[in-house]
Amino acid sequence: MLKGKHIILGICGGIAAYKSATLLRLLVKAGAEVQVVITPAGKEFITPVTLSALSGKPVVSEFFSANTGEWHSHVDLGLWADAMVIAPATASSIAKMAHGVADNMLITTYLSAKAPVFVAPAMDLDMMAHPSTVANLELLRSYGCHIIEPAEGELASHLVGKGRMEEPEKIFDVLDDFFTPKDLAGRRVLITAGPTRERIDPVRYISNYSSGKMGYAIALEAARRGADVTLVSGPVSIGIDHPRVRVVSVESAREMLDASMAAWPESDVAVMCAAVADYAPASAADSKIKREHQDVPVLHLVKNPDIAATLGQCKRPGQILVGFALETDHEIDNAAEKIRRKGLDAIVLNSLRDAGAGFGVDTNKVTIIAADGTSTPYPLKPKAAVAADIIDYITTKN
Ligand code: PMT
Repeated sequence: MLKGKHIILGICGGIAAYKSATLLRLLVKAGAEVQVVITPAGKEFITPVTLSALSGKPVVSEFFSANTGEWHSHVDLGLWADAMVIAPATASSIAKMAHGVADNMLITTYLSAKAPVFVAPAMDLDMMAHPSTVANLELLRSYGCHIIEPAEGELASHLVGKGRMEEPEKIFDVLDDFFTPKDLAGRRVLITAGPTRERIDPVRYISNYSSGKMGYAIALEAARRGADVTLVSGPVSIGIDHPRVRVVSVESAREMLDASMAAWPESDVAVMCAAVADYAPASAADSKIKREHQDVPVLHLVKNPDIAATLGQCKRPGQILVGFALETDHEIDNAAEKIRRKGLDAIVLNSLRDAGAGFGVDTNKVTIIAADGTSTPYPLKPKAAVAADIIDYITTKN
């Protein structure tokens, strides 16, 4: 979302300035054009050489270039920007911004900026808690600035408390989220993800290789686009951090069915990405099955409920139900048959015959097949980009 966006990165004089280099890299990597504006004190903490090398642009700090006398126009910069982010913002710069003390290039640029301004404070805990800082931040909020609250943790003083500048990745996410269209605002989306585990005894289970990466990417994309997401997840080792995602952790297919059915009546869309075990042991042993005490045990399996089909049976008009199909052969025919059998509106087909697709990997190659048989193939992409294609498909075709 930041591709081609003009971002002013303001850097003040604080120890957290070293983290600004990481933020700058993330912005540039995402395709943004970044102009660094640094206060004189900021240059004591990170050098303009580092910042100009990373941004590919000379760093602006003074009103005039010392060698040529060239005037640096804060007005032009303020008009050029799509967003301004000040990270770190010190107590002194926050006070100057709040009261219009235009004594350096960063503050004059801020006062001239027409674009949204994001402020990531960083200071010692007592400075952060001081009534003047609290009041100044409140003033900035009242001017429309977005304050990216500092985190709690160990500070440069070795004291522990609130004042650590938020991590660059989180600041990046705030900016990215700001520019992401909220075309799912007000919609509720249910996603299933990961594998299920079907207990044999307290130490053994039947499962599969799903890592949850694909389902979690869809959940994150739906939330970024404004949806309230319920993510029903089997056991995985990844996490998700978004205020609009509620995770319901389950283990077995039966638990996944119960959690999905609880969320489905209130949902507008469901995407069934979980790799649900088709069979479970008829009963789980209460204690560990010992190798010494018996012959090779025989596992009696029973069919698990089909979660997607159960949701399909009680689908209301207007609800959208999208399944996944993981195939190894006769992909299109098998996927089309699943659409009919499970009452789906569309199915996302991925084949284990495609290198880089399916379980565990960070990429996927999918074809989305609609209930009317039309299919839309996509090239191999990172799972985050596949998730965006799936959400685009859902929002444009329905
Ligand atoms: O988690 P990753 O490592 O990122 O891998 C992603 C993935 C390969 C798991 C994912 O892309 C995928 O293909 N998920 C569906 C896997 C699967 O179980 O496919 P299936 O063809 O067996 O099932 C068809 C559909 O019915 C799926 O939407 C599935 O969630 C659903 N189903 C299946 C069985 C069952 N008992 N209940 C179900 O709801």
